[in-house]
Amino acid sequence: MKKALKAAIFGITAGVTALAFSANAGIKDFYKWEVLNAKYVNDELPTDPKADLWKSVPGKKVYLYPQVSVRLNDKKANEIIPRKRLTAALVKVAYNRDNIAVYITWKDKTPSIQPAVTTNAFADGVSIEFPNKFGKGITLPYIGMGDSKHPVTVYLQKEVAGRDYQKSFISEGFGSLTEINEPDVDVVMVYNKGKREWTAVFKRPLKTENSNLKAGLVPIGFAIWDGSQYERDGNKSLSRWKFIRLGKYELDKDYLSYVSWGDMIHKEGDPERGKQLMAQNGCNGCHRYDDQQMAPEGMAPNLYNIGGIAHAPYLRDSIVDPNDVVIKNLNQNRHYNKAGAKDVNGAYPNNDMFTWYIVNPDGTVSSKMPPFNFLPEEDIKDIVAYLKTLRTWKNFK
Ligand code: HEC
Repeated sequence: MKKALKAAIFGITAGVTALAFSANAGIKDFYKWEVLNAKYVNDELPTDPKADLWKSVPGKKVYLYPQVSVRLNDKKANEIIPRKRLTAALVKVAYNRDNIAVYITWKDKTPSIQPAVTTNAFADGVSIEFPNKFGKGITLPYIGMGDSKHPVTVYLQKEVAGRDYQKSFISEGFGSLTEINEPDVDVVMVYNKGKREWTAVFKRPLKTENSNLKAGLVPIGFAIWDGSQYERDGNKSLSRWKFIRLGKYELDKDYLSYVSWGDMIHKEGDPERGKQLMAQNGCNGCHRYDDQQMAPEGMAPNLYNIGGIAHAPYLRDSIVDPNDVVIKNLNQNRHYNKAGAKDVNGAYPNNDMFTWYIVNPDGTVSSKMPPFNFLPEEDIKDIVAYLKTLRTWKNFK
């Protein structure tokens, strides 16, 4: 009796310790992989990539995955882009009292500068995005430049001959960009022929009329276009949300626990079971992923590398509440209803089966994906654990 009790107590304490350990390990992993520690400086922030400051700021690798959810009307690009390797970028962040500067450098053996007048040569480019609103209780936006409920501010630099192609946008997802003109924003992008790499530095005020980054943990997303690989518009390589730690500002523990949810999912969840659950719940009837290719192409986002582009809390949100973050597929006219009558221009009507959302009478959008909020927490964890394994990074270390 005594012995059994002892064993039971031991069991409980061991369980509690294991739980505490796994939570801490999760946060530790989150810091290691997802958090960019920004350096505070008293001086002006340089936009020159060669400035001394950048030598003293620690960098972190950020991996960018080809975006394939939304595709172009371009057969060649659609063949090349999904086979692209992931892009490894090195990112550094510095800030002072008023401004923040983000330094990003990546290898590119074929610098592509878009000629001033042409339509079929594409530019190299880079962009960063910040959610206009973030923090406790606010879902992260769709990483591919926001969604209608979660707009983002995007800063873009492209290499176009004869002009400084620098733009800022408010974006609510594919195809809904509004150009803005925020004061005191600057971007410099230079190619180093010797090292065969691009470096860009983005500088903006911490607080603009659209977003306030004065917070302990600031989400940031990165996109890179490789012109030689036919990348343009929505077709680019994308990071998942990363988080800048600004040490001068208080860390909101609740927000930290939201964004770091599932960071140990590869150890806590069972991906094999997750894969089975996805088949049982009919996810493969709409989505293509892994060896599950029976869904009609374009019916729903292709999840082949979702584990690289999305992090765990976003995946959980996508499954439990698809209406919160709705991806508008820009290229809906890719599928025509050939049984329908042609319009005055001779075009068939759109085949609505391939539109991912429904426009409600009040103008808001709803996802065509049903919510899977009835699934027990354990099933969701296993599905997320499986989705996280879907990355086609052959050269990932
Ligand atoms: C009826 C078709 C349908 C089914 C069934 C379905 N989905 Fe979806 N799913 C969609 C559509 C359409 C979207 C894009 C619109 C949106 O954002 O919700 C989407 C979006 C997603 C996303 C976000 C993708 C991205 O690129 O960011 C994930 C993750 C996802 N689904 C996972 C699942 C899982 C897991 C299941 C099964 C439990 C499932 N889906 C079942 C249609 C479906």
